[in-house]
Amino acid sequence: MNATESFLRRDTGSHATSPLVQLRDVHLSFGANAVLNGIDVDVRRGEAVTIIGPSGSGKSTILRCITGLLQPQRGQIRVGDTAVESLRGEDEFIALRKRVGFVFQQYNLFPHLTVLENLVLAPTRVIGRQRADAEREAQALLARVRLSEKASAYPGELSGGQQQRVAIARALAMQPELILFDEVTSALDPETVGEVLTVIRELVEDGMTCVLVTHEMRFAAEISDQIYFTEAGRIVEHGPPAQIFGKPQHERTRAFLRRALGAIPRLPAEFDAAFTPAPSLLPADGVSAP
Ligand SMILES: Nc1ncnc2c1ncn2[C@@H]1O[C@H](COP(=O)(O)OP(=O)(O)O)[C@@H](O)[C@H]1O
Ligand SMILES: [Mg+2]
Repeated sequence: MNATESFLRRDTGSHATSPLVQLRDVHLSFGANAVLNGIDVDVRRGEAVTIIGPSGSGKSTILRCITGLLQPQRGQIRVGDTAVESLRGEDEFIALRKRVGFVFQQYNLFPHLTVLENLVLAPTRVIGRQRADAEREAQALLARVRLSEKASAYPGELSGGQQQRVAIARALAMQPELILFDEVTSALDPETVGEVLTVIRELVEDGMTCVLVTHEMRFAAEISDQIYFTEAGRIVEHGPPAQIFGKPQHERTRAFLRRALGAIPRLPAEFDAAFTPAPSLLPADGVSAP
């Protein structure tokens, strides 16, 4: 097993069932705008947890709290043994961000650097990896996201889906303990969405701890251990996909899913078979989305 495989492997040791991420009663306001109103989330090692909910309900804010990019006014956030809400000083936040990968809708690759250089930069500059080791690791990660042949290409020469796969490889190059994905397929052409979802699904299968925000409901249903539904800065309900998609407890969850499932028609066939929504969630008028 090489280093890439070892850090991607599901942790079967003593930490296997302890929560890696824990949010308790997290409250956050921007001025008078109360954005998070008491958020509780648990993410165990090796789990994929997906946050779904309407736009503006606080999903991205939750992810930014986990990396310490935003500090809540109230509540506790643990990442492993780190109490994120008590971190002080830039050095402590940088130390946390080395452990938590973050992939955004906008890939933000360095346009003047090749794909390989984009992957080598942070490991050599930030965590002091030897150049040769970082390059070997980068090549292995490019193979993993099926972009070996693009190592010397520039980001501008790649499709959106390819750039997003490079961004995922770049996050993995820092050997994070977990990765946060914030709507990483939302800006992509429909035909490249599937290749990015495939890469994420493989990471999940390999035991990478992942927290995702996505509108790809069928994908979320297929890969997630837990689904959290947020609305207006609260967790309305959470549970395994079979519960949230099959037997949602709250009318607000049902209303959201009816809209969302009607609007998400474009998954590769391999995902379709894995997901059968409850009949009550399908559009009542029998009109399927385009
Ligand atoms: N930096 C910010 N300053 C002020 N308001 C913000 C900021 N970031 C987010 N908000 C507000 O917080 C709310 C939740 O935003 P966000 O977490 O991005 O929602 P979601 O990701 O669910 O769409 C929105 O009303 C948004 O306008
Ligand atoms: Mg968001």
